[in-house]
Amino acid sequence: MKITKAELVISAVSRNQYPGEGLPEIAFAGRSNVGKSSLINCLLNRKNLARTSSQPGKTRTINFYRINDSFFMVDLPGYGFAKVSKSERLKWGKIMDEYLNTRTTLEGILQLVDMRHRPTELDVMMYGWIKEAGFPGIVIASKADKVSRGKWNSHLRDIINTLGMEGEDIIIPFSAVKREGKEQLWDIIKHFVGNDE
Ligand code: GTP
Ligand code: MG
Repeated sequence: MKITKAELVISAVSRNQYPGEGLPEIAFAGRSNVGKSSLINCLLNRKNLARTSSQPGKTRTINFYRINDSFFMVDLPGYGFAKVSKSERLKWGKIMDEYLNTRTTLEGILQLVDMRHRPTELDVMMYGWIKEAGFPGIVIASKADKVSRGKWNSHLRDIINTLGMEGEDIIIPFSAVKREGKEQLWDIIKHFVGNDE
């Protein structure tokens, strides 16, 4: 997709701050540090639109990016960062709950899991929630550049089994560093936001 415009509209923590619901939306979920913000930058060909960090817990708000004035990409706050306090964790839960349960224009949630490791319990919970809410299971195996090609299949199979992916569910190896998996991902996103360019 040709990106003519990409702008951060708002970093929200509650519903009254969300942008109006005139446009379709897809969201990226996943553990802290898994590469959500890097993926958004990679897809949009921007170095630093979504702020990234090697320190986990960088994105703590729901960041709404409006693309080509035609849809929203949403960077969700990461979970599973060991060093956060209990009150921070509760805050995360509240922010996510409110978003996931009320955002009527949300067309799909793409979940990132680190391709190097077996998904965590929280990853399994997140995936379960996505499926239960009626969204298709689409998993992005991130940081694929860190796994040698010969091991891709066994790592992907491990993720598929641990999350309990089935039938129509899709897993895509992705690397923001090598810019791999980008085309496949765009095809899926276009499908969700109804843009056939
Ligand atoms: P939070 O905002 O904390 O939830 O993290 P995030 O999921 O947005 O992760 P972010 O994009 O900030 O990336 C975390 C770290 O992983 C950074 O140091 C990135 O450079 C690195 N990283 C992201 N994507 C890739 C990738 O495809 N390959 C490699 N090797 N490193 C990556
Ligand atoms: Mg982030």
